[in-house]
Amino acid sequence: MSARLDSNGGEPGGGRTGASGTARAGPSGRDRPGDRLGDRPGDRPRPRGRALVTGASTGIGEEIARELARRGWSLVITARSEERLASLAAELRSEHGVQVGVIAGDLTQAGMPARLEEATEGSGVPIDLLVNNAGFGQYGEFLESDLDRELAMIQLNVTAVTELTKRFARPMAERGRGRILNVASTAAFQPGPLMSVYYATKAYVVSFSEALRQELRAHGVTVTTLCPGPTSSEFQSRARMEESPLFNRMSVPSSATVARYGVDATLAGRGIAVQGLMNRILATLTRFAPRSILPGIVRRIQEKRG
Ligand SMILES: NC(=O)c1ccc[n+]([C@@H]2O[C@H](COP(=O)([O-])OP(=O)(O)OC[C@H]3O[C@@H](n4cnc5c(N)ncnc54)[C@H](OP(=O)(O)O)[C@@H]3O)[C@@H](O)[C@H]2O)c1
Repeated sequence: MSARLDSNGGEPGGGRTGASGTARAGPSGRDRPGDRLGDRPGDRPRPRGRALVTGASTGIGEEIARELARRGWSLVITARSEERLASLAAELRSEHGVQVGVIAGDLTQAGMPARLEEATEGSGVPIDLLVNNAGFGQYGEFLESDLDRELAMIQLNVTAVTELTKRFARPMAERGRGRILNVASTAAFQPGPLMSVYYATKAYVVSFSEALRQELRAHGVTVTTLCPGPTSSEFQSRARMEESPLFNRMSVPSSATVARYGVDATLAGRGIAVQGLMNRILATLTRFAPRSILPGIVRRIQEKRG
């Protein structure tokens, strides 16, 4: 069975859609309370709209989902870790009374953006806010780093972001309203030796999002680009940056702080949103520094010291 939410935004039979794309029915085969996303007059506050959040199983994406739920948004959350998503969904339904659909899957797999579209827009479950948050980095010399991991990174950080944006921006433009939040990074503003591919993927996200913001304005769709600096999450360990001075020599904000800032910026319709005063100062200085000296400076900042 393909990944589908029913016309109320729940999944057929009340089950959750697993990484394999199969939907599993609940024990009774009927919808379980809280598994549906549609309005139920009388038992829930009217939702603000529905957001699709990628990478919602942990870190910044999990906190964006929490922040939106707190503000009354219905959600469809996705990542690979189905158990984590299910537990977050249960928490948000019970604490905020919002509808939360779960679709687990791997966004480096070519069919996943289409599955997400089919399960939502394609099934009468419109998405008012798309949050392209899922992403990862990899630390190390390019000559030694793992090519397959870098190609997967480009697939997730660039290709999936582009495809999801295409698939969800079109129906938003047809409705004449919508919001897109793309999570980039302060890494986007300069080349990044020792994380060359990651920095380049985030430069793509910023350039793509700024251009799209201009195009979509006429269609009532805003595009916001959140640029966090180093942030407390699983990013550092997944990127094998445990010893990186970037994280260890400065105090880093929590994912919740970054998420709140990003949601505020999105709902205010802002363009580029760089989180944190020091990050904003550095991003501005970078614009005026000679391009030729930036890679050397970044390398010195990122280099592990013994
Ligand atoms: N933390 C930082 O210092 C920092 C700074 C600037 C920008 N960012 C950006 O912020 C975003 C969120 O990162 P984070 O810090 O929250 O990192 P994180 O804690 O590692 O979370 C990453 C999220 O992406 C999901 N994900 C990873 N690979 C995936 C795949 N193949 N398919 C689907 N989902 C996948 C993960 O879920 P599963 O593993 O369950 O799939 C997880 O939910 C990323 O785009 C990152 O580049 C982070």
